[in-house]
Amino acid sequence: MCGIVGYIGEREIKNRLVDGLRELEYRGYDSAGIAVMQNGRIDSFKAVGKLSNLEEKTKEYSTEGLGVGIGHTRWATHGKPTELNAHPHMGEYSYVVHNGIIENYREIKEKLESEGVTFLSQTDTEVIVHLFEAEAEKEEDLFKAFKATIEQLDGAYAVLLVTQKAPDTIFFARKGSPMILGRNRKGEIFFASSDAPLIGEADEVAYMEDGTVGYVTPKSLYTEPQELLFVPLAGDKMTAQKGGYRFFMEKEIYEQYDVMSDTMIGRVLDNDIYFEEIDEKFLEGVSRIKLCACGTSYHAALTSSYLFERISKIPVNVEIASEFRYKDPLLTDDTLFIVISQSGETADTLEALKMAKDAGLKTLAICNVDNSSIVRLADTTLLTRAGIEKGVASTKAFATQVMVLWMLSLFFAKQRKSMDESAIKEEIRFMHYVPKVLQKSLEVHEKCKRLSKRYLHGHGFFFIGRDIFFPLALEGALKLKEISYLHAEGYPAGEMKHGPIALADAELFTIALMPKTLLYDKTKSNVEELSARDSTILSISPDLFDLADDFILTHPHNHPMLEFFEMMVVEQLLAMEIAIRLGNDVDMPRNLAKSVTVE
Ligand code: G6P
Repeated sequence: MCGIVGYIGEREIKNRLVDGLRELEYRGYDSAGIAVMQNGRIDSFKAVGKLSNLEEKTKEYSTEGLGVGIGHTRWATHGKPTELNAHPHMGEYSYVVHNGIIENYREIKEKLESEGVTFLSQTDTEVIVHLFEAEAEKEEDLFKAFKATIEQLDGAYAVLLVTQKAPDTIFFARKGSPMILGRNRKGEIFFASSDAPLIGEADEVAYMEDGTVGYVTPKSLYTEPQELLFVPLAGDKMTAQKGGYRFFMEKEIYEQYDVMSDTMIGRVLDNDIYFEEIDEKFLEGVSRIKLCACGTSYHAALTSSYLFERISKIPVNVEIASEFRYKDPLLTDDTLFIVISQSGETADTLEALKMAKDAGLKTLAICNVDNSSIVRLADTTLLTRAGIEKGVASTKAFATQVMVLWMLSLFFAKQRKSMDESAIKEEIRFMHYVPKVLQKSLEVHEKCKRLSKRYLHGHGFFFIGRDIFFPLALEGALKLKEISYLHAEGYPAGEMKHGPIALADAELFTIALMPKTLLYDKTKSNVEELSARDSTILSISPDLFDLADDFILTHPHNHPMLEFFEMMVVEQLLAMEIAIRLGNDVDMPRNLAKSVTVE
């Protein structure tokens, strides 16, 4: 995904920008560019491909003395990864970099074109700089012109703009796409779309709120609608990277709101799902799907098996990669083989993918790491764009995998006409709420913290749920056992009476996922059966359940996937708080590895 950096100061500017962009490389990009302004002149350089290409292009270029710079790594959404489409985009005398998506760019572009403006790129971003210059014609106060520009943009954005008309100034705005401003005692100012480039450079940082718009010069900082709130940034990389959180896992749980927006950008449109990685003929000859993965990614696969069958009406089967490899699987060439992997390096998943390729199947990877082995091998990849995940217990990677799979099920539904247009639109309408749901679901953190002290003993946990909440129960149990070392199992709620209920007593903890939008009464009866055997019950539901010993109340939603994402966060927070109370290293649990590259 795209990355942004900015700098005001007296050190050599090009190196500051390129070094900053290098810290954002892990997010993936396909072109890069910078613009440097000094003494009323702007120099801009862009290059397709890796940052080394940009360095090569700028090797003769350097600055001395005070100046201003902006830089960008672009992940193509609108238009191909070409130099013309790379940022910064220029007008007559201004340059802009942008993360996010301008949904109404076509209307703005048409209007500006009718007024005689010529566009050079195919991007949505370019409208910002031309619109700004059109506003600056009418309004002398350049901040007012910038604000008027931002007010006309629909969509998500983090924007930096420099203009020859305001030397030493960077204008900035943020909505739905992260942006951080940092500064240090030497008077240097930095911008970055995530904190990595700021570590070791800035002493204090302000994480901008949505709706922030402002400008900064070496001498002044102005923002609306409120002042920025600066917090110290630790100098050591590890602490700083945790951004004030106790563990990477906690940070990653809290990041889910932002990364989910990244996952959706350019793909979930107003009324449509769009994957530029997949062409219209992709499903030709496909009549079934086989999904293959390990660990948490396997749970994402299982979740999607309900969605593909229900929404896309394609028969699906799901395999654990280590099992698939040695079962002499029967592979038919009408099968689309989908592998899911956070790291893209998991040995069993990679081998399974090789087997599918050797058998001539069409393959698709859903992965978080570009250029990983799995990505390089698969015919096509959908990147989940979760950003680097450091906690061994996967959180945001799982959330984004499930999201991509939900999107894909709708994408296929459209191609196969398995769902009527209005129903697809309705699903998309709910999909747009997911980032907000992830944010709101954090409200229960305190409750999870308090409850955790009651769940440190006992002889085991059963996480139970039905339908998509069954794989979520599996994932809840996996999260808990990975970091707390307590025994936990996930079970389909309806299966409890076929054996596991024999374990029920007061020391058996049942975590019951009880969504209101899907099979509530059925799940409720299963929980009642457990309650009758004196199992200790923690219900996670928007409704109070009077037979539960404890409850975590979720927000009411009108779609099962919204309830799914909220309950997912509850499970993550609960597992983490229990593990913290037990004194465990949440980020590096015993015996586990983040990426399992051996069989
Ligand atoms: C390891 C990790 C798990 C992960 C699994 C699959 O076991 O500890 O968190 O779910 O590998 O990894 P992948 O990178 O393929 O998703």
